[in-house]
Amino acid sequence: MAYLERNLAHWTSFGFGLWMLRLDPSGPVVGRGLLRHLEVEGVDEVEIGYSFHPEHWGCGYATEIATACLSVGRERFGFVSMVAVTLATNAASRHVLEKAGLQCDRDIVHAGLPHVLYRTWPTARTR
Ligand SMILES: CC(C)(COP(=O)(O)OP(=O)(O)OC[C@H]1O[C@@H](n2cnc3c(N)ncnc32)[C@H](O)[C@@H]1OP(=O)(O)O)[C@@H](O)C(=O)NCCC(=O)NCCS
Repeated sequence: MAYLERNLAHWTSFGFGLWMLRLDPSGPVVGRGLLRHLEVEGVDEVEIGYSFHPEHWGCGYATEIATACLSVGRERFGFVSMVAVTLATNAASRHVLEKAGLQCDRDIVHAGLPHVLYRTWPTARTR
């Protein structure tokens, strides 16, 4: 419930946030995508993200959604730089981010675990 409330509040405050993804309007949810503020080491960033149910892996959806989230961030909201956070061991996600045009920025600790911060352009800020 707290997760839902937090994400609805983000939509209300900023006009973007978490999307639940379906292959057709009446079908089940197969994954989620996001464009969302995230504080990284005390800096306000805008992150993109995605995840899919395992039966839908390997279909190109993560790459498509990562690219779409970047487009929305750039074209609709004018963000110069966006980030993504993934576990250092998540080779598939790292590959997706690199295919979508992000570059490895630095290692960080996120949620108490070693993660890698990716960024669209290494030196720019979101605003
Ligand atoms: C990571 C995840 C999002 C990838 O989703 P997906 O829809 O399968 O991704 P895509 O099909 O767009 O692309 C996957 C790419 O990674 C590659 N890949 C798959 N497993 C890999 C591995 N172990 N090492 C390196 N590359 C790998 C695929 O070959 C593909 O690349 P290609 O198109 O160049 O062949 C999905 O596995 C997932 O939801 N995992 C659980 C949650 C998660 O990790 N979310 C991301 C949090 S940052």
